[in-house]
Amino acid sequence: MKFLVTGSGGQLGNGWQRILKERSNDFVALDRGGLDICDVESIAKALDTHEPDVCVNTAAYTQVEKAETQTEEAYLGNVLGPKLLAEACAARGIQMVHYSTDYVFSGKLTDREIFEEGYPEDAPTDPINRYGATKFEGEQAVFKALPTALVLRVSWLCGLDGNNFVKAIINRAKTMGQLRVVNDQFGVPSFVPDVVEQSLFLIHHKQSGLFHLGSDGCISWYDFAKKIMEDAQVDVLIEAVDSSAFPTVAKRPHFSKLATKRLNDLGMPIHSWEIGCKTLVSALNDE
Ligand SMILES: NC(=O)c1ccc[n+]([C@@H]2O[C@H](COP(=O)([O-])OP(=O)(O)OC[C@H]3O[C@@H](n4cnc5c(N)ncnc54)[C@H](OP(=O)(O)O)[C@@H]3O)[C@@H](O)[C@H]2O)c1
Repeated sequence: MKFLVTGSGGQLGNGWQRILKERSNDFVALDRGGLDICDVESIAKALDTHEPDVCVNTAAYTQVEKAETQTEEAYLGNVLGPKLLAEACAARGIQMVHYSTDYVFSGKLTDREIFEEGYPEDAPTDPINRYGATKFEGEQAVFKALPTALVLRVSWLCGLDGNNFVKAIINRAKTMGQLRVVNDQFGVPSFVPDVVEQSLFLIHHKQSGLFHLGSDGCISWYDFAKKIMEDAQVDVLIEAVDSSAFPTVAKRPHFSKLATKRLNDLGMPIHSWEIGCKTLVSALNDE
């Protein structure tokens, strides 16, 4: 099975490459220069040159704050691009894997009582911000063009590459000596290696449709920061604060845990977030 990975310079794109390389899988990973998801000719050229069986789309417009004003750019990267890629895959009989986000939900704290295990795949969507709205529109565009596509939602993505909370918090602790972290937003991290393994499981089991990926558990960013510091053995004062201490342009969810039961029921074990955190911090230490 040959894989083509788009968005190769991003956090998840790099994670995919690490695992495919480790396993000696047949794959090609392309950045925007090699395959621009918003350019029909670029897509056709890449797909016809490399002839993959599976196209893994990790490319996206991911600037949550800027998406509130850069509406055209967010639309291109998160709606038009996935739509064009899905249409091209459909025309060539290529399976497509596409990623989406917890921000497709409203993220109300009261949803924590309704969805104790997290939002299931069929929970009503109500995107919390512009980025979430474009990602939701992208999901629909992909399914319209390629009903057998795999659309995989992840939350709080963290891996070895790119920017993420784990790397940011370690850097901030080391440079500032103390931390203030939000304690009224709850969810769970998705660690890149788990996301890739879970995606591969679904691909190999010939699944299609919508799935939630990630880790087991539900925590606040403050809980996450405490565990990162413990694993990194950095002794630092961490103050728990409300979201109001960090005003943002884009609204952030108070609850955005994604339930992974659908995936788990197929036989894929879901690791606890603590294991994922320890593994990532240890890998960062080894770099
Ligand atoms: N990060 C999170 O916490 C999070 C949470 C939930 C869901 N997700 C989803 O998970 C997926 C992967 O996210 P990530 O964190 O890996 O994102 P990322 O690190 O920002 O990487 C996105 C990549 O997409 C590329 N890209 C953007 N527009 C493109 C285009 N038109 N053609 C080709 N490449 C393009 C970017 O390249 P340039 O450098 O050239 O722009 C970048 O390398 C996305 O679908 C995202 O929405 C992420």
